[in-house]
Amino acid sequence: IMANAATKRGWHLYLVGGAVRDFFLTEAKTLALQDVDLVVDGFYQNAQAGAGVELAQLVQQQYPAVELQVYGRFQTAALIWHSQEDQQPLMIDIATARTEFYPYPAANPEVEASSIRQDLYRRDFTINAMAVCLTPPQPGVLLDYFGGLIDLQERQVRVLHANSFIEDPTRIYRAVRFAVRLEFRIESQTESYIRYALSSGIYSKMQEQVAKVPALQTRLKRELQYILEAPYWQSALGLLDKLGALKCLHSSLEMSDRLWHQLRRVSRWLERFQFHSAIAPWQLRLEVLIAQLQPRFRHTVATNLQLPSETIYRLKQLEAVEAELAQNLPTAQQPSQIVRQLRRYDLPLLLLISARQPRPTGQKIWQYLTQWSQVKAPLDGNDLKALGYQPGPQFKAILDDVLAATLDQQLQTRQEAIAFVTE
Ligand code: CTP
Repeated sequence: IMANAATKRGWHLYLVGGAVRDFFLTEAKTLALQDVDLVVDGFYQNAQAGAGVELAQLVQQQYPAVELQVYGRFQTAALIWHSQEDQQPLMIDIATARTEFYPYPAANPEVEASSIRQDLYRRDFTINAMAVCLTPPQPGVLLDYFGGLIDLQERQVRVLHANSFIEDPTRIYRAVRFAVRLEFRIESQTESYIRYALSSGIYSKMQEQVAKVPALQTRLKRELQYILEAPYWQSALGLLDKLGALKCLHSSLEMSDRLWHQLRRVSRWLERFQFHSAIAPWQLRLEVLIAQLQPRFRHTVATNLQLPSETIYRLKQLEAVEAELAQNLPTAQQPSQIVRQLRRYDLPLLLLISARQPRPTGQKIWQYLTQWSQVKAPLDGNDLKALGYQPGPQFKAILDDVLAATLDQQLQTRQEAIAFVTE
């Protein structure tokens, strides 16, 4: 529909970016397109900047079930097919060919209508800067102005120009993500551009310019999420550290044996004990990374990244709760004492502390999480009513005592619990 409509209007339509790259990397039968990027180039026919939106609207008129979103400023339209089954929707982004110029480093790109070559030139890596033309006179022809195909063969991630990382430092994270995910290497000149961008203090600019360029932090958060939720998160984090790129989060952040140990611990626990209903693994890993910073920096870093409010609150509480538990837990011997200490805190906070604290404290939290927090009193409020107690504050106190006695193995059965209450 879109190719026909574009042809009628004298425009060109292209498939660009990740879909083209993955087409060359993947066997046709296993290629599962989920995110498709299209660019419509009508500059020479005086197309309006809204050409992409116009084409998307035509599709939606014929398929009303398809969702259409329009992002005004960049004149980009997104078509979203929600499939019946429990599958990921298919997303098609349709942009109007554009170049971007950056008013100052690390800013959000301004957009103007332009040709496909310039549109491709503004992209991150050569392997992402190829296009397949979908309209006449040569439908199916590959546009590869920057050597993307050769780089795919050489298995390397290469930027198109020296300023790429200064313009958009999140590309450092993208370079790492693509390198690790595709098992490519970062081409040596590109690596030196990364190191140059980092040594020029691009990360401190990122931190300073949060108010000015909030979109940059959103993009950084998204890249961090992609990396930390991927099966290859350890290799990616290792490479980011090797390049010194973790400093984009905070100038003092770097990996250490201790930090690796903490990250692996929480990841193992999340996997083994199905805790991920309480928190997404990437989020907890990111909290472990931020918790590594001195307490006074944690809140700012989490807020700048626009992390969820519960994460910001947890990182704010962390110092005080760790101090309290480090003091009280080692002397608490009875399980009931430990449960009373810990039950007011949420699961992710306890996982975080357990991974960070030395054995005696960490192990007690761990026992609480895996055993004691699941222990139930062998009688409930109905039993108390049957025994002649009136509901009220006393109820809770009795049930608490019964639970404590159960935890400390003084009673096990319902009969024992009833005898305990009546005595
Ligand atoms: N892009 C860019 N700079 C960024 C982010 C994106 O130049 N900081 C460009 C890339 O050319 C990319 C395209 O925008 O191909 C679409 O971005 P995205 O959907 O994030 O990447 P994909 O290449 O589609 O990769 P993925 O397979 O991870 O979705």
